[in-house]
Amino acid sequence: MDQHDLKDGNGHPLASKRLIDKVVVVTGGARGIGGATAKLMAENGAHVVIADILDELGINLANSINGRYVHCDVSVESDVEAAIQFAITWKGKIDILYNNAGIGDIGGSITTIDMKRVSKIVGVNVNGVVHGIKHAARAMIKAGTSGSIINSSSTAAIMGGLGSHAYTLTKEAILGVTRSSSCELGLYGIRVNCVLPHGVLSEMLVDAYRGFKKDATVEEVQQSVSETASLLKGRCGMVEDIAHAVLFLATEESGFITGHNLVIDGGYTTSSVKMSFIYRDKEPKSNKSS
Ligand SMILES: NC(=O)c1ccc[n+]([C@@H]2O[C@H](COP(=O)([O-])OP(=O)(O)OC[C@H]3O[C@@H](n4cnc5c(N)ncnc54)[C@H](O)[C@@H]3O)[C@@H](O)[C@H]2O)c1
Repeated sequence: MDQHDLKDGNGHPLASKRLIDKVVVVTGGARGIGGATAKLMAENGAHVVIADILDELGINLANSINGRYVHCDVSVESDVEAAIQFAITWKGKIDILYNNAGIGDIGGSITTIDMKRVSKIVGVNVNGVVHGIKHAARAMIKAGTSGSIINSSSTAAIMGGLGSHAYTLTKEAILGVTRSSSCELGLYGIRVNCVLPHGVLSEMLVDAYRGFKKDATVEEVQQSVSETASLLKGRCGMVEDIAHAVLFLATEESGFITGHNLVIDGGYTTSSVKMSFIYRDKEPKSNKSS
């Protein structure tokens, strides 16, 4: 069936479905950016497996989108392997992996950095992504699937001062492994890209603010991010902004894009606003002769 011919129960055309019959695993898909992406992909016709450690949230969301939930701690390789196998057992294949699961970190000086915390965040943010690429790629190569793997980095990877030292190093590592694995897996038609979200209103962002201002409300966080962390007046990143970018990288619309870092930051990392006074028109000089 042509995907553009799909109709709802009243015979009205449905919004175009861009992932009909594709099988997707979304790690960290129980809430936040991963949750919004799981929903959007399901709305676009995909069969979605949510792999997370928040079982109740994950099960509820999976049920609401006709998907499946699997408990998976991405820092444990066998959990990730099992989550991918779960998708294959359910629908016979895996086409798309969104390696989204991640944790934040408190700030603090590099001179007092706690290496136990570093190991923990590396375990989730870096090892989790590597586990995903490894096992999704194995399955895709075996099945001859020209799949798409999308990793979640951050603008902290391309600009200093946007995350703790530990968080920053994990997100930078993801850029590296995205490039190296896209280089290898291109041979099999498998694309590997990453998204770099920035200041997206989610539990992670609100928690991070609360590390500095205990009673910060969601509205305060949204206002603060809109005013200081985006070039777009009054606009901060929303989970759906990232979901739409991931959807693009998942579909064949991005079929010639691999090894790419897609920055979704309201332009923040493109410009310094400190000298934006130069764009103000100058007052015309008075012609009065002295
Ligand atoms: N929110 C932002 O501003 C922002 C900015 C840049 C990058 N990111 C990245 O986007 C991704 C999603 O973040 P979010 O803002 O939606 O955060 P979130 O905390 O709302 O969601 C993260 C999800 O990952 C899951 N998760 C955490 N540890 C896990 C583990 N070990 N195994 C499996 N699942 C685990 C959580 O349970 C949760 O469902 C993260 O990788 C984050 O680093 C977010």
